[in-house]
Amino acid sequence: MSIKILALGGDGIGPEVVDSGLQVLEAIAGTISLKIDIGEDLLHGAAWDAHSTFIRPETIRAAHESDALLVGAVGGPKWDHITVDGGPEEQDGLMKLRHELEVFTSLRRARAYDPLLSRTPFRPEVVRNSDVMVVRELCGGAMFSDTRGIDGTDKNRRAYDLNEYTEVEIARFARIGFEVARRRRGKLLSVDKANVFMAGKLWREVVQEIGANEFPDVALTHFFTDNAAYQLSCRPGDFDVILADNLFGDILSDQSAAISGSLGMLPSACLSHLSAGGRSEKPAIYEPVHGSAPDIAGTGVANPIAAILSVAMLLEYSAAERESARKIEAAVASTLEAGFATPDLGGTNTTQEITNEVIRQVLRA
Ligand code: NAD
Ligand code: IPM
Ligand code: MN
Repeated sequence: MSIKILALGGDGIGPEVVDSGLQVLEAIAGTISLKIDIGEDLLHGAAWDAHSTFIRPETIRAAHESDALLVGAVGGPKWDHITVDGGPEEQDGLMKLRHELEVFTSLRRARAYDPLLSRTPFRPEVVRNSDVMVVRELCGGAMFSDTRGIDGTDKNRRAYDLNEYTEVEIARFARIGFEVARRRRGKLLSVDKANVFMAGKLWREVVQEIGANEFPDVALTHFFTDNAAYQLSCRPGDFDVILADNLFGDILSDQSAAISGSLGMLPSACLSHLSAGGRSEKPAIYEPVHGSAPDIAGTGVANPIAAILSVAMLLEYSAAERESARKIEAAVASTLEAGFATPDLGGTNTTQEITNEVIRQVLRA
């Protein structure tokens, strides 16, 4: 089998961690009959510096022609103030790709690792064995609204971003969330602010209806998002799959990173569908949940585990290589057990030392 991958390092630590992810991918591909064809390009700030655009049309074309994209991270103080003509997706190379490929579902997983329990803000008995999957809507809501702007002058300006969801958008996304829950422990928690927002009321109604009609075997509960955030910070072990809109999912996925001890640990898969066999017919994006971490960029100590685990998700969801995905996850766990850790986890290892050890463990398995 062969797979066409477009690697886009992006900005800050993005290229550093994507490089680690690709090293692991190449190592494991050599042990199975997986042929990988990797193309590389610039994204967002790096593309702006070279081509005065956040993403070139040829990059978008290459994305459409790929099976999977591996993205590092985008943004940084050098570019965050730049605005260009057009909607929100034009302001950000990664958002443009999510929009173009219509990957409206982001699976973001946070797990507790025994060697890292003491690195979390939780007591070990509270966080041990936690395994939370935030399923975040990725192409709608206030973050992608065209009804946005800043009007007026002087002290009378008004700013707005319409928080809008159609029934179709909620339903197609909820179905994937239910399916993910079915493949895990059959539990789904949907979060919203149905007590305040009209978009939240429709959200709850549609999720409830899809659950009752199509997924009666999945135990569905609803929380208001503020309460969900509170409960998640008190008893993370009680959570499994959390279904959230674009904004709430962005926040809750970063929050859930505390379970793993660092934001540098969380991978994601951005999908437009969940194929039964694990070979996605449409391009998907795999990316760490973290950003470009300008504070540590170029120092060689970024935690590459989020990017490496994103490669595991790529193998699982786009290459039907579930066994290889499990091998990478096990290699990451063994690396941590052997005491390897970057500074964000309280250690002194470099990005490359972690990568080398994960590869060693992968090849040993
Ligand atoms: P950030 O995620 O870049 O960093 C937050 C904190 O976590 C920082 O202290 C950073 O050093 C640390 N951190 C993040 N990833 C790490 C890793 N792999 N290893 C070690 N430490 C890590 O968030 P921010 O500082 O709010 O944003 C910086 C830039 O990144 C902004 O331009 C923002 O828009 C962008 N951003 C991009 C993405 C993305 O591309 N998916 C996600 C979030 C933020
Ligand atoms: C993320 C990031 C992005 C988002 C930004 C960089 C646009 O925070 O992937 O979580 O909000 O989606
Ligand atoms: Mn985010």
